[in-house]
Amino acid sequence: MVDLAGRTVFITGSGGVLGSTYVRRMLASGAKVVATDLPGARADALIDAHGDNAQFGFYELDVSDEAAVEAIFTRVMADGWQPNVVLNNAAITGEMLMGKGKSFPDFADTTVEDFEKTLRTNLTGAFMIARQMDRDIVGKYPSTLVNVASMYALNGAHHRIYDGMPFKNFSAYGVTKAGIHGLTVWLAGYWANRDATVNTIAPGAVLNGHSDEFQRRVGELIMADRMGQPDEIADVMLFLASEGAGYMTGQLINVDGGFSAW
Ligand SMILES: NC(=O)c1ccc[n+]([C@@H]2O[C@H](COP(=O)([O-])OP(=O)(O)OC[C@H]3O[C@@H](n4cnc5c(N)ncnc54)[C@H](O)[C@@H]3O)[C@@H](O)[C@H]2O)c1
Repeated sequence: MVDLAGRTVFITGSGGVLGSTYVRRMLASGAKVVATDLPGARADALIDAHGDNAQFGFYELDVSDEAAVEAIFTRVMADGWQPNVVLNNAAITGEMLMGKGKSFPDFADTTVEDFEKTLRTNLTGAFMIARQMDRDIVGKYPSTLVNVASMYALNGAHHRIYDGMPFKNFSAYGVTKAGIHGLTVWLAGYWANRDATVNTIAPGAVLNGHSDEFQRRVGELIMADRMGQPDEIADVMLFLASEGAGYMTGQLINVDGGFSAW
């Protein structure tokens, strides 16, 4: 059991499948959690689940909004929180880009607008959070940043497994997930003499109501022969958020059941 007493964890995109798991597990491990997300049902569910917990705070935050990101740490610090762990977790992961029920266009029909919309949230948003951490936190007290990549950062998508599925893998996703590790290694050296570390976690395929057929197809690509559970990703995220990871910086940790190791 990782002990997160003394850690105040700031999380973007907290209402999603993984974000909400991190919130629950970090609170259970003794952390204070400053959760952020876009307004909506996911945020409401998070507040319903944890709003009574004095260790939990929620702030609306769109990571693609530069002015909002520039103000966020000042806002949370004014309320008494002192984040020493920051998770760049928010991302456009699928249906948010195209709208519910709509499938992705072929690569040839992908618009620059949709490509850049994904870059703005997944990569520029992560940069702006890191830049604000540099301005408001780094050097003032010890801190760590975890950037969230994907099994599709440094490995290509297996497009065949999406045939006939209601969702697909889209080019901007992999581009942003590869790019975010570039931010990690760049910052690791830049922050090295200011008591701040930065690492990347690359989750594999996480089970979230997928059909048996999709689980079978993706399972064949994974050494463990199955998709992962959100808690199995959280186990490693909790370690990266803990003091125990203090001698790690600039690293990319795959948590993918062996997908990337064939
Ligand atoms: N679930 C997986 O299989 C998987 C695999 C690899 C990597 N990841 C990565 O893990 C992270 C979390 O994934 P998830 O499965 O929980 O995804 P999710 O789609 O369930 O959640 C993403 C969250 O990001 C938020 N978000 C989107 N745009 C935002 C913006 N502009 N500002 C603030 N918040 C915004 C959404 O509201 C949502 O709550 C993502 O970075 C994702 O790319 C997930």
